[in-house]
Amino acid sequence: MTVTAENQATSLSALLRTGSQAEHTAAEGSSFMSELMAGRINEAGYAHYLGLLRRVYEALEGTAAELTADPVASAVIDPAIERLAAIDADLDHWGRTVHDSPATDAYVARIRESSTWGGLFVAHHYTRYLGDLSGGQAIGRIISREFGLDGAGIAFYAFDAVPKPKLYKDAYRARLDALPLDDAERDRVLDEVKAVFALNGAVFAEMTTHLDTYAR
Ligand code: HEM
Repeated sequence: MTVTAENQATSLSALLRTGSQAEHTAAEGSSFMSELMAGRINEAGYAHYLGLLRRVYEALEGTAAELTADPVASAVIDPAIERLAAIDADLDHWGRTVHDSPATDAYVARIRESSTWGGLFVAHHYTRYLGDLSGGQAIGRIISREFGLDGAGIAFYAFDAVPKPKLYKDAYRARLDALPLDDAERDRVLDEVKAVFALNGAVFAEMTTHLDTYAR
């Protein structure tokens, strides 16, 4: 594996952030995300999306449980930020629906495969949870405002154990930066982060095909 010049000069957290910026911009710009942020997705559409996310977090948190003793993965695993219980509480509000989703199937399979090396799991963990603690906070506020929810149905975005997301993210980045990975391994983590963004993008693309049904 060739090691990029960018890799050698920076910390792992900076490498992941700058190295996946293009992928992040693409995810933000997906039609489904833009419509959701603009308040143009109806309740059924949000319930559909949340049902897919439930499968993703079930896989993330199930795999985390297998990796608690892993020297690399354990740097990020933290039961205090797990989302499955919050999603279940939200689904009680929005309703549970079942949808075929090849994109979610592929994403879940990739999460499960990440148990073969802690660094791969770190990539999956970073991309979802740091995103939830960042832009996800804005998404939660928009959904709450658009549907006039006053907290009901948006537990997914509420991290009760994290009163100050910035401090949590700083500490998380410090743990990433302390991982004893060589340059090739760091590049492997970055490659997986890019793959995780693409997997999320594929789920959004699938949701985009349903925009007509879910327009609000
Ligand atoms: C409309 C959708 C989105 C918006 C508005 C958004 C916005 C943001 C913002 C403003 C930050 C920077 C926060 C900070 O510096 O502390 C951020 C960070 C991040 N976002 Fe997003 N985001 C969106 C979608 C996504 C998606 C779909 C993912 C992944 C599935 C994602 C993953 C991340 C990650 C991993 C970070 C942390 C970057 C780092 O500091 O290392 N975001 N997002």
